[in-house]
Amino acid sequence: MAAKWVRMVTAQTPTNIAVIKYWGKRDETLILPINDSISVTLDPHHLCTTTTVAVSPSFDQDRMWLNGKEISLSGGRYQNCLREIRACASDVEDEEKGIKIAKKDWGSLHILIASYNNFPTAAGLASSAAGFACLVFALAKLMNLSEDHGKLSAIARQGSGSACRSLYGGFVKWNMGKNEDGTDSRAIQIVDEKHWDDLVIFIAVVSSRQKETSSTIGMHNSVETSMLLKYRAQEVVPKRILQMEEAIKNRDFPTLAHLTCADSNQFHAVCLDTYPPIFYMNDTSHRIISIVEKWNRTEGTPQVAYTFDAGPNAVLIARNRNAATLLLQRLLFYFPPGDGVDLNSFLIGDKSILEDAGLKDAKDLEALPPPPEIKDNVPAQRYRGDVSYFICTRPGRGPVLLSDESQALLNPETGLPK
Ligand code: DP6
Repeated sequence: MAAKWVRMVTAQTPTNIAVIKYWGKRDETLILPINDSISVTLDPHHLCTTTTVAVSPSFDQDRMWLNGKEISLSGGRYQNCLREIRACASDVEDEEKGIKIAKKDWGSLHILIASYNNFPTAAGLASSAAGFACLVFALAKLMNLSEDHGKLSAIARQGSGSACRSLYGGFVKWNMGKNEDGTDSRAIQIVDEKHWDDLVIFIAVVSSRQKETSSTIGMHNSVETSMLLKYRAQEVVPKRILQMEEAIKNRDFPTLAHLTCADSNQFHAVCLDTYPPIFYMNDTSHRIISIVEKWNRTEGTPQVAYTFDAGPNAVLIARNRNAATLLLQRLLFYFPPGDGVDLNSFLIGDKSILEDAGLKDAKDLEALPPPPEIKDNVPAQRYRGDVSYFICTRPGRGPVLLSDESQALLNPETGLPK
């Protein structure tokens, strides 16, 4: 009976940033990594993906829209996720709407998907992690899966490796696993977002003209050519994972900072050790590292950690609100907004940090004194416009369902984008 119903689910899923990096696969189809990794989930209020999925007997093919534009679902990664999730689907019954779907029907029913990132795609921030996690989470709800988050994590992994860590809030570990079929390669939560809630996270979106090598291609080339990656995966990461887990459980900021920076630096060293060599960081990225290193050394104990993924953007983790305020003053001193950019659009996310730092408008920025760790006899240089904007955020929660239909991205009658 081809009744004219549409069943719809909307979910919101955070993005995450690794403090111990995933780089290198032992199986490129199943997306199985060569080492464990650890990430912190970012507050979805500032960075997240929202996805609506719909099913109806009137749909004649699977379709997807990303940020309003239709994209192809024919790629292997989408196909693998859709197949895996359909295989776990259960009976669904909604008496009120007259919907009855039997487990066996899911193979022939088609799905429409609309997904939206609340941050600019052009910023080069990893959107695939939140995107695949959200797709899998929303479909699991639509299809009434009884499987736990661990199983969903293993499915999201087949969309993009880092996506498996976005199924949880707080600090998350992706166990590389041993099984050839990947069933044990999934994420687990180390601690939730409330465990260490005084951390403040800044993202410096660094202006860049060049298109970077994709993570997928970059890590393939590293596995093929870098001896350093082999050593890193076998000897370095296993020890760091244990130390990082301890540091997180104990809220030991100096150890977290030391390991995070060292691991980011080693990942970028592996990129240089790759043939052909990969350069993700640029001069601005290097400058940010120097500023942080100098300040941390002057303070005698780390105030902030930095980490960089497959691009020039910096992610900075400050130990608490006070350190975040002092960091922001330094960042805005060195990287003031370009001409015509106002402070309100230069710092997005948790803007209340501006008040804490005593910064209200452009005049306050101009009046910022050079940080005291600069030697008096060297005039400080400022790099206007080299950072496009900053995002201020914090550790955040895992995926949630949005039950308010007004937040859905698809029309409840037709299933097409609103
Ligand atoms: C540098 O998860 O984007 O961000 O699995 O090929 O989709 P694929 O790669 P992806 O790689 C992320 C690499 C990284 C480090 C990390 O997030 O752990």
